[in-house]
Amino acid sequence: EEEFHLEPEPLALHSDGPFGTYDYRQVQRGFQVYKEVCSACHSLKQVAFRDLEKIGYSEAQVKAIAAGWQIEQPDVNKDTGEPATRPNVASDRFPLPFANDVAARAANNNAIPPDLSLMAKAREGGPAYIHSLLTGYTDPKTFTHDGKSLAKEFPDFTVPTGLHFNPYFPNLNIAMPPPLTQDGQVQYQDGTRATVDQMSKDVSAFLMWTAEPNLAKRHATGFGAVIFLLIFTGLTFGAYRNIWRGIK
Ligand code: HEM
Repeated sequence: EEEFHLEPEPLALHSDGPFGTYDYRQVQRGFQVYKEVCSACHSLKQVAFRDLEKIGYSEAQVKAIAAGWQIEQPDVNKDTGEPATRPNVASDRFPLPFANDVAARAANNNAIPPDLSLMAKAREGGPAYIHSLLTGYTDPKTFTHDGKSLAKEFPDFTVPTGLHFNPYFPNLNIAMPPPLTQDGQVQYQDGTRATVDQMSKDVSAFLMWTAEPNLAKRHATGFGAVIFLLIFTGLTFGAYRNIWRGIK
C-alpha cells in the first residue's frame, strides 16, 4: 500500500525562499480558519494572543480576540481550591481545547489531535503537506495513482470505522475527519473567496508563521551579515595590498 502514499503537492507561499516575507492578509485569514475550525480540536501552545500583533492586529483587536475566545483559561479558585476558568487576556497562550489526553482521545476516536504550533516544521513538506492533507481526502474505492487502482491492487483494503482515507497521510487512514468541506465555511472580511482550497492554503500560511514567526528578521540579519562580510573582505584585501606595496 506504500505506493499509494502521495508526496505533497507544491504550494507557493509569499514566505518561500531567501527573500521570503509573510503576506499578513493571508496569515490573518489563516488565523480565522484556525480560530473557527481547527481550534475545536488542536492546541497552539507556543503562541500567545499578543503575538497576533505581529501579523497586523491592533492591541485593541487582540484584547477583543482574547476576551471573546470560546475556551477559557484554567484558573484554580483561590478560596476553595476547586478548578475554575477565567477569560483569556492578551498575554495568555492559546488555551488547550481538551482538559487532558484522555478527554482528547475520547473525543477523537482514540487519537490525540497534535499541537499545531510547530507542525509546519515537524512534517516533511511543511505547509505544502498541511495544504495537501486538508484537501486530499478522497474515496479509496475510486482512488488511483500512477494508473493503478487501490481497490484493484488491494481488494482487502478497508478504512477502519472512525478513520478517514487520505493518501497524503503516511498510513493512509487518519483519525481527523475532513475539517474543511464547504466553500464559504468561514467568512472572509477582505473579499477573498473562501473556497476549500483557499482556506487550506491560508491556514497553512498561518501555521508557517506560528512555526517561524521571525523568518523575515532572520533573512534580514543574514543579508546584513553577508553584506558586512563582503565589505570586510574588500577592506582586508586593500590592507593586504597596502602593507605589501613596497616589497618586490
Ligand atoms: C491531525 C491540521 C482540524 C482532529 C492533524 C494534523 C494536522 C492537522 C497537520 C497532523 C497530521 C500528521 O500527523 O501528519 C488541522 C487543521 C485543521 C484541523 C489545519 C483546521 C483546518 C481538526 C479538527 C479536528 C481534528 C476540527 C477534530 C474534529 C485531528 C486528529 C488528528 C489530527 C484527531 C490526529 C490524526 C491521527 O493521528 O490519525 N490535524 N486539523 N483536526 N487532527 Fe486536525
